[in-house]
Amino acid sequence: MDYIITTEQLTKKYKNFISVNQVSMHIQKGSIYGFLGPNGAGKSTTMKMLLGLTSPTGGRFTVDGGHFPDDRISILKKVGSFIESPSFYANLTGRENLDIIRRILGLPENAVNDALELVGLAEFGNRLAKKYSLGMKQRLGLAGALLGRPPILILDEPTNGLDPSGIHEIRNLIKSLPSLYDCTVLISSHMLSEIELMADDIGILNHGRLLFEGSLDELRQNAVQAGFAADHKISSANLENMFLSMIDKDNAARKQRARL
Ligand SMILES: Nc1ncnc2c1ncn2[C@@H]1O[C@H](COP(=O)(O)OP(=O)(O)OP(=O)(O)O)[C@@H](O)[C@H]1O
Ligand SMILES: [Mg+2]
Repeated sequence: MDYIITTEQLTKKYKNFISVNQVSMHIQKGSIYGFLGPNGAGKSTTMKMLLGLTSPTGGRFTVDGGHFPDDRISILKKVGSFIESPSFYANLTGRENLDIIRRILGLPENAVNDALELVGLAEFGNRLAKKYSLGMKQRLGLAGALLGRPPILILDEPTNGLDPSGIHEIRNLIKSLPSLYDCTVLISSHMLSEIELMADDIGILNHGRLLFEGSLDELRQNAVQAGFAADHKISSANLENMFLSMIDKDNAARKQRARL
């Protein structure tokens, strides 16, 4: 397999609390990898470690052949990111905000229009960022991540706050990216039903532990074997139920262990 990101026993401990617990992930080049888990599972923390925004307290990872921390700078150059709610200069326009990032990255001027176009903000590029709706801000964040068309995109809940048609549009955009310019996408979400429509592979995280990693088809097969779907016509509801039950079972097992 041609993996572009791998983590090995990646761990983040805050004092006595383990936020990310020995996570070993394998992200295939050119794929969309859905990173799923409930609130507090450790998705953002994992992504922040991959971006060098917080240091691991255990384990290792590689991005496109580079090892962290030795190759930190070359790793960062290859990754576009959108972490939680991105912040902007409110009194500058969307275009001016992107232009600042463009200059920092040393990209040609047309990169800004290209990114605005990609996320459907071209006609609002000259509006002040403070006058953007929530959905427009999310799009601007995505445009920032896409500037220069980096080979790897790390997107932390990019559809947060979007209306259903916005979710649909951004989902289609994300889905089109690997074929559009040959990139790999790591995207987090709480909802399997959303990830199911985009991702090739899925990692399910709960309380810092990776409960499942594999293709969507493997997850569907598991759903049949576990009795969540009577035949091979597995609905989104079947899959979502299995995801929720995996989380519930893991939580129950944790409680049991804590009692012993
Ligand atoms: N700086 C910090 N200090 C202490 N604990 C932290 C810190 N940052 C995160 N945590 C804890 O680590 C756990 C994982 O947080 P994280 O933000 O990674 O979860 P998440 O999966 O992204 O959740 P959400 O879906 O709500 O965004 C949480 O319990 C959180 O409180
Ligand atoms: Mg998060």
